[in-house]
Amino acid sequence: MSAVIISGKEIAGDIYAHLADPIKSIGERIERQPGLAVVLVGDNPASQVYVRMKTRMCQKLGIYSEQITLDAKASHEEVLSTVRSLNENHAIDGILVQLPLPPQCTESEIIDAISPDKDVDGFHPMNVGRLLIGSPAFIPCTPFGVWVMLAKGGFSPEGKHVVIVGRSNIVGKPIFSILCQKMKYANATVTLCHSRTPNLPEVTRSADILIAAIGRANFITADMVKPGAVVIDVGINRVDDTDSENGYRLVGDVSYDEVSQIASAITPVPGGVGPMTIAMLMYNTVLSCSRRYSVPFVPIIK
Ligand code: GUN
Repeated sequence: MSAVIISGKEIAGDIYAHLADPIKSIGERIERQPGLAVVLVGDNPASQVYVRMKTRMCQKLGIYSEQITLDAKASHEEVLSTVRSLNENHAIDGILVQLPLPPQCTESEIIDAISPDKDVDGFHPMNVGRLLIGSPAFIPCTPFGVWVMLAKGGFSPEGKHVVIVGRSNIVGKPIFSILCQKMKYANATVTLCHSRTPNLPEVTRSADILIAAIGRANFITADMVKPGAVVIDVGINRVDDTDSENGYRLVGDVSYDEVSQIASAITPVPGGVGPMTIAMLMYNTVLSCSRRYSVPFVPIIK
């Protein structure tokens, strides 16, 4: 039996529809659009693509966006001062520094410099801590997207065993923080695995909901999945493909063809978690502006 496909594209469309009213109300109330600043340091091709997609979506929705592109050799101090000036910029409600940064920049110090009130990525230690204790200010965009996909897709994690493969600060750990909370659409028993977990296939086979976020192409194979499990693929990996125009194609962390034969539901790559990440960034930006100016904002998950 083939799995149901959970379309991130479709659920992202629902998020954009949800944002139309608050964007309009903000325009009427403060006579400007919500504003997002994206800082890109260097010329990493994947980062350039992601930043372009974020900027385009802002334009489409009526969100003001500023892209600040710094040279790959920009100093740590230069990046810090860019972030500090955006903290003071009244037209900007959200600041995103695209990761990874070049080696001369200390990532943690730059994230620390972002005002927690404008940290729409949810990476500042204050927001990481708030998420863990169950009073989030901003939920990181990819984990938020995964959560909304499960909730809106009709796959509530309540009472389920969720296994996450990958312990990054951006994805694995925050998904754990969300799904273990005592709240609606959470209340899961969560296991966080990684590359050094012994007997990994045995653990993943015990998952009702399996979330792959390890950053390795086709890592999760059919023998690692319980029949009927819900599989969320966070990976976006470039693999060589001579048939493709640009010489590569994108695949997830899950061997889609084989796993889709035994899972009950699965997210595709592309068109799964990727569009949700962008949608939740737009959501966090509008939320930030609404908070700063006390404009009513209805949460997407109540
Ligand atoms: N690089 C990969 N994913 C992300 C993300 O969600 N936010 C930022 N700032 N950089 C990233």
